[in-house]
Amino acid sequence: MSEIADKLIDWYGVNGRDLPWRRTRDPYRIWLSEVILQQTRIAQGMDYYLRFVARFPDVGALAAADEDEVLKLWQGLGYYSRARNLHAAARQVVERYGGRFPAAYADVRSLKGVGDYTAAAVCSIAYDAPCAVVDGNVYRVLSRLFDLDLAIDTAEGRKAFAALADEQLDRRRPARYNQAIMDFGALQCTPANPSCNDCPLRDECLSLAAGTVAERPVKAGR
Ligand code: ADE
Repeated sequence: MSEIADKLIDWYGVNGRDLPWRRTRDPYRIWLSEVILQQTRIAQGMDYYLRFVARFPDVGALAAADEDEVLKLWQGLGYYSRARNLHAAARQVVERYGGRFPAAYADVRSLKGVGDYTAAAVCSIAYDAPCAVVDGNVYRVLSRLFDLDLAIDTAEGRKAFAALADEQLDRRRPARYNQAIMDFGALQCTPANPSCNDCPLRDECLSLAAGTVAERPVKAGR
């Protein structure tokens, strides 16, 4: 496995965040946390996550609820289609899989509101399936490490980054690796003023060597 993956995972061991959804392997709870975090910061999402699991401890409880109650609990998070999809997907899990959250990537991906990112996050974090996540943090970290000037908001760029992310994935520890690279992007390799001085990947980082850190990732629409 790559030196980069080892260094990210070592960094994560020291700096990774202790979050309630990291203390479980329950795919339902991991899915719930990922849906909440899609457009919401962790500090804000935390309370909502805790209230949701307290009220709906499993996917069957969420499926059995009235949509109004789900929307009410979601109040303040915005993007209400996420809450409607969450509720609809819980009902799909009950109808299609007898209330057992699916494990196969294609089955998870088929649920309402679940895209490539969420399916990869759930399958890797809950089941250690070899699915690389690609979110804004991953785009930034990889574009800097490999000094890529491919635009992340084009079909071609997304495809190339998905392939690179898959190549970099630590297949022995997908859950740990995926969470490590996301936390690394959120805490160390930040959008503005990244901490390059004390970065464990400074010897590997091609954009640091080239002086292009501030220009990565590239977006076409700017
Ligand atoms: N942001 C959204 N989901 C995350 C996760 N599982 N780890 C780190 N950052 C995240």
